[in-house]
Amino acid sequence: MIGSRKKQEEAGKQLDRSRLPRHVAIILDGNGRWAQKRSLPRTAGHLSGAENFRTIANYCKALGISYLTVYAFSTENWNRPASEVSAIMGLLDRYLREAIRDMVRDQNRLVVFGDLTPLSPETRKLIEETRDLDKQIQGFQANLCINYGGRDEILRAARRYAQEVREGRENDITAEEFSEYMYTAGLPDPDLIIRPGGELRLSNFLLWQCAYSELYFTDVLWPDFTTAEMDKALLAFQNRDRRYGGIHGVGGSEV
Ligand code: IPE
Ligand code: IPE
Ligand code: MG
Repeated sequence: MIGSRKKQEEAGKQLDRSRLPRHVAIILDGNGRWAQKRSLPRTAGHLSGAENFRTIANYCKALGISYLTVYAFSTENWNRPASEVSAIMGLLDRYLREAIRDMVRDQNRLVVFGDLTPLSPETRKLIEETRDLDKQIQGFQANLCINYGGRDEILRAARRYAQEVREGRENDITAEEFSEYMYTAGLPDPDLIIRPGGELRLSNFLLWQCAYSELYFTDVLWPDFTTAEMDKALLAFQNRDRRYGGIHGVGGSEV
């Protein structure tokens, strides 16, 4: 244990603060198993996971990372028992209320990505309030993916573009222009995607944007994912060779 803690502290010390990713994305997975391991209801894991999001978001901001995108509820998560879905939505409302209270003071932008139509009127009203406050804020931006699916996002973009073509737009769109139809319009693609919780898949997260993202997987469950774990992920990122289809040292690493 002590040895591994030491290793983690070392990761923090070795981090090169001048080569941090601009945009980090995290799949917040493992809340249910974290709770089950403690003989707690799964919802206790979601509560702990929500609290950890605050810790890690503050840490990313302190490091100077510009954008943090987190996957909190997927288009497929409606398949869970209604009681779990409503507990997650209740936590989301609570989180949004607290964010609304603090966002201007802390200069934290909070943007929600996803199809908001099936959310409750109360949740949608809270999201609307964050949008209004957002105009007064510059600086660190957290993106919360709620009822988000990568395929849904691409389909939505394609439908909007097709409509514009029907209305007379020329059908000559580039990948760069198509990116502007995504929730992430105007943002750089994620440099690093982290998945805690032990699964080795993306589960429909940022399918368009992940083309050249570095992927980092760990067995650590999301509520146990500490700032030291974040350092480890960032250090792993700094040791990657980003070639973008080129060869080492020629037209490669942007970071
Ligand atoms: C992630 O944790 C939160 C959501 C998907 C809403 P899980 O609830 O998926 O936790 P595990 O994977 O069952 O442990
Ligand atoms: C991915 O986790 C979605 C979120 C974390 C919001 P899941 O727990 O839903 O993913 P699968 O079912 O293991 O692929
Ligand atoms: Mg899961």
